[in-house]
Amino acid sequence: MPQKIRKAVFPAAGLGTRLLPATKAMPKEMLTLVDKPLIQYVVEEAAASGVESILIVTGRGKAAMEDHFDVSFELEQLLRERGKENLLKVARGVSEIARISYTRQREALGLGHAIYQGRDFVEDEPFAVMLADDIVDAERPALRQMIDVYEKYDAPVLGTMRVEGEAISRFGVIDAEEVEPGVYKIRDMVEKPKFEDAPSDLAIIGRYILTPDIFDEIERTKPGAGGEIQITDAMRKLLQKRPFYAMRLEGTRHDAGDKLGFLVATVEFALKRPDLAPQFAKYLRNLKLN
Ligand code: G1P
Repeated sequence: MPQKIRKAVFPAAGLGTRLLPATKAMPKEMLTLVDKPLIQYVVEEAAASGVESILIVTGRGKAAMEDHFDVSFELEQLLRERGKENLLKVARGVSEIARISYTRQREALGLGHAIYQGRDFVEDEPFAVMLADDIVDAERPALRQMIDVYEKYDAPVLGTMRVEGEAISRFGVIDAEEVEPGVYKIRDMVEKPKFEDAPSDLAIIGRYILTPDIFDEIERTKPGAGGEIQITDAMRKLLQKRPFYAMRLEGTRHDAGDKLGFLVATVEFALKRPDLAPQFAKYLRNLKLN
C-alpha cells in the first residue's frame, strides 16, 4: 500500500501582477470568490482529500493569510457577546480546517524554488502541491481524484485538463499514453511550449502529487522558461528515473489569478449559493446584453 498523502505544500509567494492594482498590498490568495478567499477553497479541498498538514510558502506582504487561518480572539468574543452563533461558527471554523504552518520564499525564483522551500516540512513522504490560483470546482475534490490514481499506481500524479488552442502555451504540457480512461503514463513534458510545439492538449493545472526525490532534482535544475526554476523541468528530469502519471481531472477549473477567470468564477460560485442564487440569477436574466 502506498504511503498516505498527509502533507501539502501551497506555493503562495507570487506577486499576483495579473490582478493589479487589487494585489498591490493584498495577497492575491486572499481575494474572495463571493465571501471566501481563494486560498480557503483550496485548503478545504486539501482537507476534504485527507491532507492533515499544510505548509504555505509565503513572501513579503502576505501576512493576511496567516491572520485568516488563525483564531480571531476579539472577533469571536464580540460575536459571542452579541449572540451571533452562526457567524461565530464561520469565524472559528476557518481556523480549524487544517494544521497550517508557514515559511517564506525570500526571493521569487520560480515555482520549483517555491516548492523546494517545503523540503524540511515534507521530509521523506509523498506529498501534494496545490496552487491557490487554480480553483477546481468538482463534485469529488480534485486532489482526492488524484490520490485515487496515486494509490493505484504508487507513483507521482499530475492533475491535467484539456486546453483548446493557443492558450496551451500558458501551461506545462504533457506527452503521454492513456493507460485507462482519463489516466496517462507520461512520456515527456514541457513548460509553456509554443502552440505549434505543444506535444498534446493536456495542460498541467495546479495540482501535483510528488515524491521527496523531487527535491534533489529541483536543486540541480537551472532557470528555464521566464528565467525561473520550473517544477516542470525538475519533474522532467526525474521522469528519467521513475514513472510519472497524469489524470484528466473531472470538474471545472477556474484561473482565478486572471481578471476574466476571476469574474467567471465569481459568477459561477454565486450561482451555486442557495442564499444568493435566486436573486442573483434574476438580476443576470434581466441584464440587457447585446
Ligand atoms: C504554473 C506551472 C505550469 C502549470 C500552471 C498551472 O505556471 O509552471 O506548468 O501549467 O502553473 O496553473 P504559472 O501559471 O505559475 O505560470
